[in-house]
Amino acid sequence: AIASVKARRVWDSRGLPTIEVEVRTERGATGRGIAPAGASTGRREAIELRDGGTVLGGKDVLQAVAGANKRVAPALVGRDVTDQEGIDAALDGLDPDPMRAAIGGNTTTATSLAVLHTAASSLGIETWRMLNPRPNVLPRPQIQIIGGGAHAAHRTAVQDFMIVPLSASTIDDAFLHVAEVYRAVGAVFATRGPKRGVADEGGHWPEVADTNDALEVLVDGIEQAGFVPGVDIGISLDIAASQFQRDGRYRVGERDYTTSEWIELLAGICRDFPIVTLEDPAGEDDTEGMRLAVARTEGRTVVVGDDYLVTNADRIHGAAADRAVESALIKVNQVGTVSAAARAVRAAREHGLGVIVSARSGETEDVSVAHLATGWNADFVKVGSITRGERTAKWNELIRINEELGGVPLATASI
Ligand code: PGA
Ligand code: ZN
Repeated sequence: AIASVKARRVWDSRGLPTIEVEVRTERGATGRGIAPAGASTGRREAIELRDGGTVLGGKDVLQAVAGANKRVAPALVGRDVTDQEGIDAALDGLDPDPMRAAIGGNTTTATSLAVLHTAASSLGIETWRMLNPRPNVLPRPQIQIIGGGAHAAHRTAVQDFMIVPLSASTIDDAFLHVAEVYRAVGAVFATRGPKRGVADEGGHWPEVADTNDALEVLVDGIEQAGFVPGVDIGISLDIAASQFQRDGRYRVGERDYTTSEWIELLAGICRDFPIVTLEDPAGEDDTEGMRLAVARTEGRTVVVGDDYLVTNADRIHGAAADRAVESALIKVNQVGTVSAAARAVRAAREHGLGVIVSARSGETEDVSVAHLATGWNADFVKVGSITRGERTAKWNELIRINEELGGVPLATASI
């Protein structure tokens, strides 16, 4: 049974405070969870409890920490740590608001993840193994090479320029291929002009004219590294379109696009470049745009819902019926508990949709994503770039998991 639940303030990759929760059982099993934080958050996501005021621009989490110690801890002490659903239901019960405004989605996320890892520790096994004793594949990594959008002062409208190693059949080869491309793209940027450093998730900060220019640099880098675009390496884009949608239109630079004009433009990009997945091509309320994106990229590109779905099982059922997505991005902190995210995974699979387990742009050394992506049999895992410790913590955990599994192939890229 749970003996103690302790919360504390720790720091994330943007130098912002976040909440860590540590759970301990009577027999001494322990586990920790840290809440990540998004920059381009959907309006239907669970609310992060932040202090407001002037300290750290209002971003401090001392109230969340106090609430975890005073309200969450007493509700959990004495419970069976392996009863994840019961504990997550208790967390739901502490907060009458479905958006988790009272306790905070950051608090419930850190607590729920801490419970998950403590349960595994109490059983003497790794977290991924508790979720699935015998995974026969690992998720294929989607890795950021160039960062834009809200992660790079909106230098490009598009947020994430990622690659997917297609011809790699093991996780080790996948990282090797990605690292070669990351270096090659850095070299391309270096010859084109000033180097600008890295974006929030460690991708190159783009010094480009527009989305097409960034894609040209990416393809150039893939080729320079000795790979064939679309055969060895595919491209994944996170458009994060809610970020530049105003009054129902998509505003990019000086131009203003209607939904159909915007989706046509993206469909053209998917024809010109080997785009394997296209995330949030339309805004979080633009069902017509999402449907159109699915229809106009049929058989070529998988349309992914992130802000559009917010890891919500009900929205996934609806989007599947609308044919508005083909794959669901899964982020535990969008819904606030492991059990709710697991329901979203089940909803996606029920409709034959793909599953991509994802980290956030604000991250820490917490490696939960690697375990969830493995244990939930995700098709893809998305953690940002191949640089910076908060990203490599997850990638390197997948290398260890693969070793424990005795070496398994990567999930097929076609979903
Ligand atoms: P976020 O970005 O964590 O800033 O929301 C990641 C994503 O949009 O997938
Ligand atoms: Zn996204």
